[in-house]
Amino acid sequence: MARTVYYSATSLDGFIATEDDNLDWLTKYRGSFSGAGAHPMKGGYDRFYEGVGALVSGSTTYEWVLDHIGEGEWPYKGKPCWILSSRDLRKPAGAEDDIRISNAQVTELYDEMSAAAGDRALWIVGGGPVASQFADAGLLDEVSLTVVPVVLGGGKPLFSRALPGRAMQLVEAHPYDTGMVGLRYEVARASA
Ligand SMILES: NC(=O)c1ccc[n+]([C@@H]2O[C@H](COP(=O)([O-])OP(=O)(O)OC[C@H]3O[C@@H](n4cnc5c(N)ncnc54)[C@H](OP(=O)(O)O)[C@@H]3O)[C@@H](O)[C@H]2O)c1
Repeated sequence: MARTVYYSATSLDGFIATEDDNLDWLTKYRGSFSGAGAHPMKGGYDRFYEGVGALVSGSTTYEWVLDHIGEGEWPYKGKPCWILSSRDLRKPAGAEDDIRISNAQVTELYDEMSAAAGDRALWIVGGGPVASQFADAGLLDEVSLTVVPVVLGGGKPLFSRALPGRAMQLVEAHPYDTGMVGLRYEVARASA
């Protein structure tokens, strides 16, 4: 069974985008930190992505990606990717076979997504509505965050709702030379 990982960057106050879906606070962030234990930022995403077998995303996240890539530059080429939407969304050229637009609950799609990911991770790209659907169903294994020291004061939340009774065990924490911090939590599948 694939491991389901919600891998995302978050502001210090728990938002993954502004209310109008702006990510400049993340993509243009230029902080620095040279204190004890600082790790170089480079390479972390590439290592994570290498271990991804399939992806799942909500439609707002998908449309943000489409708006920020050039034609034929689908960034997840070669990996099956489920886009959850009630609408008929366009697919970028060259990625027609990789992308599945699905109007379904994650519980209905999980077996297929997990089988496609195989012994690699099923990456929940975002956003909070999708992560919360996995969490509610007890199908979330790991939350892997890059915390950006920026306070947005509002926006699109990391999760859409509370997740009571689910223990989160910190398995990794390290500061980057940018001032961001990586945090990895294992999520108990059964209530703890
Ligand atoms: N900081 C980061 O690293 C990071 C990571 C990921 C995303 N983001 C950003 O965060 C924002 C997230 O946006 P968001 O909170 O609106 O979340 P989202 O999960 O990207 O999109 C939510 C939408 O997806 C559709 N949807 C979700 N579940 C569905 C289901 N089971 N069946 C059918 N449709 C479903 C619905 O829209 P429709 O049915 O109308 O299509 C819903 O309104 C975006 O701006 C994205 O770019 C940031």
